[in-house]
Amino acid sequence: MSDYQGHAADYQTAKRQPWRTYLEQPSALALLGDLSGQSVIDLGCGEGHYSRLLNQLGAAEVLGIDLSGDMVELARSQERSHPVGIHYQVGDAADLVLEQPVDLVFAGYLFNHARNREELRAQFRTVSSLLRPGGRLVALNNNPDDHPSNFKAGRPYGYSKSIDGPLVEGAAIHYRFVLEDGGVFELTDYYISREVMQMLMEDCGLQQVRWPQPILAEKGVEALGADYWTAIMATPPFCLIEAIRA
Ligand SMILES: C[S@@+](CC[C@H](N)C(=O)[O-])C[C@H]1O[C@@H](n2cnc3c(N)ncnc32)[C@H](O)[C@@H]1O
Repeated sequence: MSDYQGHAADYQTAKRQPWRTYLEQPSALALLGDLSGQSVIDLGCGEGHYSRLLNQLGAAEVLGIDLSGDMVELARSQERSHPVGIHYQVGDAADLVLEQPVDLVFAGYLFNHARNREELRAQFRTVSSLLRPGGRLVALNNNPDDHPSNFKAGRPYGYSKSIDGPLVEGAAIHYRFVLEDGGVFELTDYYISREVMQMLMEDCGLQQVRWPQPILAEKGVEALGADYWTAIMATPPFCLIEAIRA
């Protein structure tokens, strides 16, 4: 993924914005719950931010997979510095095959990299094949309900979005994150509606699809005040997805 090759460290810095700490992460952790004893794949693991959290939630085995060799190397270097037993490998979510099915697949901002419904269907097919029957998919995804008229609303929170034309399936959406040191990190994702995503999941045997509401941590209100969160809570930049393998 060219957006990430050479920019792995910038992406890691962008994970420290307050909305990540107080909104994205607590929402994902609440949905994941206690993972004691579970085998987990972190698909599109990046530099391992969520792989390490999955480990802290009690998962017995965590395997992180990412297309970007730079991301996997950064993840491995953190595992070398603080070994907790997480394994990482380079792989493509479109055609990954593993022998042992797992209890949980987590995918953080992976699906929004699919450029069209065929690519997204391939990713969901992979997720389905990696899970045991009854196993769970938990995902973070860019919020497909965020309309271009709202694309500048993220600026006070350190990010903004832009689009070259109308919001049609496969349209490229450009993200711009302003980092703590004033630097900028940019990446491009693709629009696929919530309805199409859900239809494709169900086609691939991922059932009982839910889109839980994000949860703001009380510490975020204490740190920055309630008013700070009003706009981002009206239209969060991400959505949560849960589905069960039939
Ligand atoms: C926005 S980053 C998210 C990283 C991490 N999951 C997180 O939430 O912090 C998306 C990651 O997905 C990876 N990716 C994109 N397409 C992929 C594919 N087809 N297979 C595996 N990884 C992919 C990118 O290399 C990148 O590391």
